[in-house]
Amino acid sequence: MTARVVLPGGTLGILGGGQLGRMMALAARTLGYQVQALDPDSTCPARSVVDRCLTASFSDTSAAEDLARSCDVVTLEIEKVSLATLNAVARHTPMRPGADVLSVVQHRGRQKAWLAKGGFPLGPWREANSEAELSSAISAMGGKCFIKSSEGGYDGRGQYEVKGASEAAVAWKELGERSVVVEAALDLKAELSVLVARGPDGQLAVYPPAFNHHEDRILAWSLLPGPLPEAVLSQASQVARDITSGLKVEGLLVVEMFLLGDGSLLVNEVAPRPHNSFHSTEVACLTSQFEQAVRAVCNLPLGSVEVVRPAAIVNLLGDLWLNEGGPRFEQVLAMPGVRLHLYGKRDARKGRKMGHLSAVGSTPEDALTRVQAAARLLGM
Ligand SMILES: Nc1ncnc2c1ncn2[C@@H]1O[C@H](COP(=O)(O)OP(=O)(O)O)[C@@H](O)[C@H]1O
Ligand SMILES: [Mg+2]
Repeated sequence: MTARVVLPGGTLGILGGGQLGRMMALAARTLGYQVQALDPDSTCPARSVVDRCLTASFSDTSAAEDLARSCDVVTLEIEKVSLATLNAVARHTPMRPGADVLSVVQHRGRQKAWLAKGGFPLGPWREANSEAELSSAISAMGGKCFIKSSEGGYDGRGQYEVKGASEAAVAWKELGERSVVVEAALDLKAELSVLVARGPDGQLAVYPPAFNHHEDRILAWSLLPGPLPEAVLSQASQVARDITSGLKVEGLLVVEMFLLGDGSLLVNEVAPRPHNSFHSTEVACLTSQFEQAVRAVCNLPLGSVEVVRPAAIVNLLGDLWLNEGGPRFEQVLAMPGVRLHLYGKRDARKGRKMGHLSAVGSTPEDALTRVQAAARLLGM
C-alpha cells in the first residue's frame, strides 16, 4: 500500500518545539505548510514561528490527540516522547517516525542491543541496572568508561566518566540510580555522522558524512562534507543506510560514528530527527535537513543531497550570553559568507545551545577557518 502524500497547504505537527522544531517549522512554512507544535515549555523556540503551539508534557496523550486531530501528519524533533503519546497520535494521523522506531532508539541499551543484533559495529558496552552491575561492568570494560543514562540524555548530559570501578557508587548516584549503559572509553581519531532521509514507501537519500568535533561532550563545530578517506566515507554511508532501512525509519535518521586509530568505524548512537551536525546543510546543500525532514514525513519526493559549497558551523552556547551585554554580532555579520542562526531562547544557561554560526568556503577546511575566525570575534 502506498502512503498518502501530504501536499503543501496541509498541516504538519511537530512533537517538540526546540531549535530543531523551529528550523523544521520554518522550512515547512517555506514549502507552504501550516505548522503546529507541542512542547512542555510555553516559551519554546518554535512558538513564534508556528500557527499553533500546545503547551503540554510529552506524556500528555490527550494533548497529543488534540494536535493529531488538526494535523495531516505528525513528526518529532526530540526522542523523549512517551510511546503512549506516539500511539495516541497514530490513532488519528500518521506519526513519522512512529513508536516502533522510538521504542528501539529512545533507550540506549535497547538501541545498542538492536544494533548488535543487526551486526553493526559497536565498541565494548554493557547495560547495568544496579550499583553492583555497574561496578562489575566498569571492571569488565577495563576501568576507563563512559556511563550513560539509558533514557533522556543529550549534549553530554546524563553521562559520567569514570577511571575505575571504585567510582561506581558515585556514578550510580549521580545518574539517578536508574538503568545505565557502560561503554569503554575509546581513543577517538575522529567523529563523523551520516544523515539519511527515508520516505514512508522506502525511498532513501543519504547525505555525505559530516566531520564533527566535540568539546566537553557537546558538539563544538562540524564540517560538511567531512574531509575523510574515501573508504571511511563509503563504509559510513553504507552502515547508515542499512540502519535506516533496518529500522524502517519514516523521516530522518542520523547515525553518529567513531573512527578509531586503527581505521575501524563504530556506531556511537542514532537519532531519528534533524541533528546539530547537519545544520550546515542549510548553507551547503540543495536541500537542507529541515526541508528534507518535511519532504520525507509528507511523502513528497526527497530533495537532492548535493553539496553545492562546503560549509562549517560553530555552536553558540549560553556561556557567551553570560558576559555583560551579551555577544556583539555586528562584526561577525560583516564577514562575507558568515551567517548567524539564533534559536530565540529566552534564557541563556552555561552549555545551552543558543544558536550557531555558519560559513561557506572553497573547501571544508576553508569554511572552518572562516567560521572559527567569526567565533573568535565573539571571544570564543
Ligand atoms: N565510549 C566513548 N569513548 C570516547 N568518547 C566518547 C564515548 N562516548 C561518548 N564520547 C564522547 O562524548 C560525546 C557525547 O556522547 P554521546 O553518547 O553521543 O551522547 P549525547 O547523547 O549526549 O550526544 C561523543 O560525541 C564523544 O565525543
Ligand atoms: Mg551524541
